[in-house]
Amino acid sequence: MAGTGQRVRIGVIGGGLMGRELAGTLGRWPVLVDHPAQPELSAVADIDPAARAWFERVPSVQHITEDWRALIDDPDLDVLYLAVPHHLHEEIATAAATAGRDLLCEKPFGIDLPAAQRIATAVNTGGGFVRIASEFPFFPGALTCHRLITAGTLGEVIEVRAGFAHSSDLDRGKPVNWKRRRATCGELGVMGDLGMHVAHLPLRLGWHPTTVYALIDDIVTSRPVRAGAPEHVACDTCDNALLVCQVPAASRQVPMVWETKRIAPGQMNTWWFEALGMAGGVRFSTRSPATMAQFIWRDGVQAWLEVQPGNVSAWPVTSGAIFEFGFADALLQMWASYLAERVGALGERFATASPAEALAAHTIFDAALRSARTGGPITTGGSTA
Ligand SMILES: NC(=O)c1ccc[n+]([C@@H]2O[C@H](COP(=O)([O-])OP(=O)(O)OC[C@H]3O[C@@H](n4cnc5c(N)ncnc54)[C@H](O)[C@@H]3O)[C@@H](O)[C@H]2O)c1
Repeated sequence: MAGTGQRVRIGVIGGGLMGRELAGTLGRWPVLVDHPAQPELSAVADIDPAARAWFERVPSVQHITEDWRALIDDPDLDVLYLAVPHHLHEEIATAAATAGRDLLCEKPFGIDLPAAQRIATAVNTGGGFVRIASEFPFFPGALTCHRLITAGTLGEVIEVRAGFAHSSDLDRGKPVNWKRRRATCGELGVMGDLGMHVAHLPLRLGWHPTTVYALIDDIVTSRPVRAGAPEHVACDTCDNALLVCQVPAASRQVPMVWETKRIAPGQMNTWWFEALGMAGGVRFSTRSPATMAQFIWRDGVQAWLEVQPGNVSAWPVTSGAIFEFGFADALLQMWASYLAERVGALGERFATASPAEALAAHTIFDAALRSARTGGPITTGGSTA
């Protein structure tokens, strides 16, 4: 039965694209079966009046403010969702974490590695339940990859490839925004935007690279200040990053390639994952969300099986298993896992990214930046995921 869980009042700091997505996610909450939480969007903080006005359409929202500190101080809120530009992550996350608040932080976990380390320290001090947003592993095809790998079907791993690619920045006439500027998005650029999505599943599987070699590309270096304007300003974040990594295994180093791209012709919003082993393999891409592929090698026959996992993710839903799964479903599943884990009810289900995983991802992206500067491979120090 749906709708029987404990009430959880959520406050959003940053009511832009992702803050609004949360309103949609919570609106669909009744499709979850027997979930322990009954969340509602109670409060919103945003400095932009238009962003604040949008939330007037959400009946559960009682408190709309321009001051994010008011939400951190609000004892009526149980969980805060931080969805602001990257240069604000550290200040807001640190204040909220130090106050002991339960948080779902949008990625990246701070604008760079030192910021991530300081946020992690605040989380440890405050003791709140903190996780980092990464929804793509909740696609049924991605979860099937995870299940088959943890069941040992790959045998010795040969290589791993994971990536996330957009093409919206192909248009040189697209105006600049905070995600295209180093001051607000960070030197990590596309790795800050897309990297946690790529890192989450490999790190969950324990594949933490100890060596990183990166090719980082800033293709479009200036953009119009607004649509059609002749004036251009610097667009000084990197667009594409290719990381060639080595993951230590029992007898050798396993190659692992991570791609994050804003300029990938033909890719609207494609997340993919592939792992090949001596005994089997798995492959999934959100371009074909209803299917994943499993490689089998049996009696001398090699074959890729097309598997349709159905609409079956971490948490059961009332929607039929035959229906197609999409981005909004992935967000619903991520929130369902976050809110279940928060009350100790996740069980064996797939969990949202942890601060340790986000820190590990930052360690790798920091090594990538250093590799791009020096032109050679960088040893990450092998922190654990
Ligand atoms: N998980 C995903 O799939 C996904 C997708 C897109 C973005 N994101 C992440 O979500 C976060 C927000 O991105 P977005 O696309 O929603 O950006 P956005 O620009 O659409 O929204 C950001 C909002 O923050 C508000 N803001 C800025 N300064 C503020 C302040 N001092 N106090 C309160 N509000 C303030 C802005 O007015 C804006 O409404 C980023 O960390 C981004 O990387 C995640």
